[in-house]
Amino acid sequence: MSGDAPAIDALSRIEQGLTALGDRFRQSFAAATSEPALRAEQAKLLGKKGDLTAVLALLRDVPAADKPRAGALVNAFKTEVEKEFDACLRALGEAALQAELTARPFDLTLPGRLSLGRGHPHPVLAVREELLAIFRDLGFQSAPGPEIELEENNFTKLAFPPDHPATDMQDSFWLRPSVLLRTHTSNVQVREMMALAERVKAGESPRLAIVSAGAVYRRDDDLTHSPMFHQIEGFLVDERVSMAELKGVLGAFAERLYGPGTPVRLRPSYFPFVEPGAEVDVGCVFCNPNDGSRAACRVCKGTGWLEIAGCGMVHPDVFRHTGLDPDKVTGFAFGMGIERIAMLRYGIPNIRLLFENDPRFLAQF
Ligand code: DAH
Repeated sequence: MSGDAPAIDALSRIEQGLTALGDRFRQSFAAATSEPALRAEQAKLLGKKGDLTAVLALLRDVPAADKPRAGALVNAFKTEVEKEFDACLRALGEAALQAELTARPFDLTLPGRLSLGRGHPHPVLAVREELLAIFRDLGFQSAPGPEIELEENNFTKLAFPPDHPATDMQDSFWLRPSVLLRTHTSNVQVREMMALAERVKAGESPRLAIVSAGAVYRRDDDLTHSPMFHQIEGFLVDERVSMAELKGVLGAFAERLYGPGTPVRLRPSYFPFVEPGAEVDVGCVFCNPNDGSRAACRVCKGTGWLEIAGCGMVHPDVFRHTGLDPDKVTGFAFGMGIERIAMLRYGIPNIRLLFENDPRFLAQF
């Protein structure tokens, strides 16, 4: 025990200390505007290093006779703090509820602050719709066709000989013998001509103009080829059509796609289901023969021509295989790759960019 006698006895100092603390905590509790702030004030008072601990330290100096009285004072103080804390906590909760009830309600019709931007069609879809629209304007009707197809409709009825390289396991995706993923949209020719043959039997005239677009599959994989890509197919059947009409349609198409005056040329080529057959070239739209840009043109490689399609007059065997009489009907057909048109238009160097769906790429369209 310390030798210095306290100026005032310990019990009185405890009493005074508690009174002072009492005034202070009532004020600081009342000033707390939130539950965490209130709890912080409570900790300042009752915590290990809190103000009350300092007062309690005086208990050591209280003579034994005064100890019960000192303990009663401290306990009464603690009860009061607790009561006050609960009252303030309840008041805070009621104030928060009242504020919520009287606040302006949320307006759910307000526009959002986060802009998500607007989506747009994928470039392959956009080009596909554009090509379809041109042929629809020229009088062709669009028709669907399945991606899983019989060998018969994909190859045999189109007069592919059984040993044609395209029919090989290496070149096509076979699902089981005689069923495969179509390698081109020309299967729609077979389906539509067979349906036409039925209508002709029922007395209708042999007339048809169809356009069809969709996915096709080949075992092909390099910068400009992908195992899945899209084609658009067009064909027309009537009693007497010639290659002149074919070229007329392709010319009108090229002008719509690339602008007035775009030249078209047909280069002899071979496809089993047409005779004669040709590749369709359009005048290169990336260079000009008059300003010296042609020789350096990387797109047409200085030739002035871009190959965009295959075409020809429907082979008599195709008519025969689909139930039409090659002596009574004629027709022409053409087919082109949609990705190729998109790549030419936008200068896309690698076909895979069109299928990876990287938003940094797609945002450029
Ligand atoms: N089916 C051919 C291919 O995928 C493209 C084609 C060439 C379609 C000539 C035709 C055509 O309709 O007449 O390579």
